[in-house]
Amino acid sequence: SAPGKQGYPYFMAKEIDEQPTCIRRILSNYLVNNDIEFGFGGTLDDALKNFNRICIVACGTALHAGIMGAQLFKKWTGINVDTEMASEFIYSDTTVGPDTLFIAVSQSGETIDTLEALRKAKEAGALCLAILNVRGSSISRVADYTLYTDAGPEIAVASTKAYTTQMLMFYMLALKSGLVRGTITEEYFEEATSNLRKIPDAMAEVIGQKDAIHKLAKEVITASDLFMIGRGLDYTVLMEGALKLKEISYIHSEAYAAGELKHGPIALISEGTPVIAAVTQTHLISKALSNVKEIRARGANVVLIAKNELKADFSDEYHVIGLPDLDDEYMSFPEIVALQIYSYYVSADKGLDVDKPRNLAKVVTVE
Ligand code: G6P
Repeated sequence: SAPGKQGYPYFMAKEIDEQPTCIRRILSNYLVNNDIEFGFGGTLDDALKNFNRICIVACGTALHAGIMGAQLFKKWTGINVDTEMASEFIYSDTTVGPDTLFIAVSQSGETIDTLEALRKAKEAGALCLAILNVRGSSISRVADYTLYTDAGPEIAVASTKAYTTQMLMFYMLALKSGLVRGTITEEYFEEATSNLRKIPDAMAEVIGQKDAIHKLAKEVITASDLFMIGRGLDYTVLMEGALKLKEISYIHSEAYAAGELKHGPIALISEGTPVIAAVTQTHLISKALSNVKEIRARGANVVLIAKNELKADFSDEYHVIGLPDLDDEYMSFPEIVALQIYSYYVSADKGLDVDKPRNLAKVVTVE
């Protein structure tokens, strides 16, 4: 039977709150005795060990999980990874072939562009892995391997728990690849799995700060544009944050790599322009902050997303959303939860139908 809202005003609010449980479920299924086990009699591990090329294809939010996946594969294995939008992949020249591990990501498993892209990759001889939420879907029937995120039905058009669970799959795939390829040490792997286990509580901690995030969201309900800036993994998460905000609040929101601002987007900043700046990546923090100062000097209204340990340093100058102090690589989880909550409240406070934004469908089965 269809799930109810269980007392929440919108499915999106319920689905945001479910995320710590969804992440715990995946971890308890795949983290076995401090190893990551995907099943398939170890044949997927062999594939992860042997392929030197990966191509990741998806649409929308699933594509953003894939872009994160690409970063993680590069970080932990040094493998060449291409990420493409399914709609572009289908009709473009491709070098995907028998030497490629092809990964399709989809909540529904029914998105026509992603399905067609997968068919094309399979015809070209690639080994095809799908990361899906809905069991028994069309994509699962074409893929050689399917990993399920088992997040339960996602009803809100704006994807939340599907994204974080897809992202977790990529963390596990990239870490396991690094381990079997010897590009990360066993100690590093152990440290990583202990970080993975901290994710659910970190997400729950952000959910516990809803009211503070709501307060900040109230300030932008009349805005027409909002920019999100960050570097490295922050930028990757902000792409998804900007999509959340635009799809349900109808505010024009874009994520920019902070270092690219000076090559164009900074021309859009004027007195009062709202900007969300994420600075969770320690090795990039001084560069990211210098970008934040540049836009502040042009009058931008900045909300900073930073680790709690740095919150006090910034609180005099900025509104700050503080996140639990995980190792940098894992900050993406609490960070996106903050942006989901923020987007949710902007939409709800504007009186919009949060779960059913105009012009959008949950599953897109036309090209
Ligand atoms: C639609 C939905 C998005 C989703 C995208 C891909 O645009 O509104 O939320 O990210 O399709 O869907 P999939 O089911 O393939 O993940």
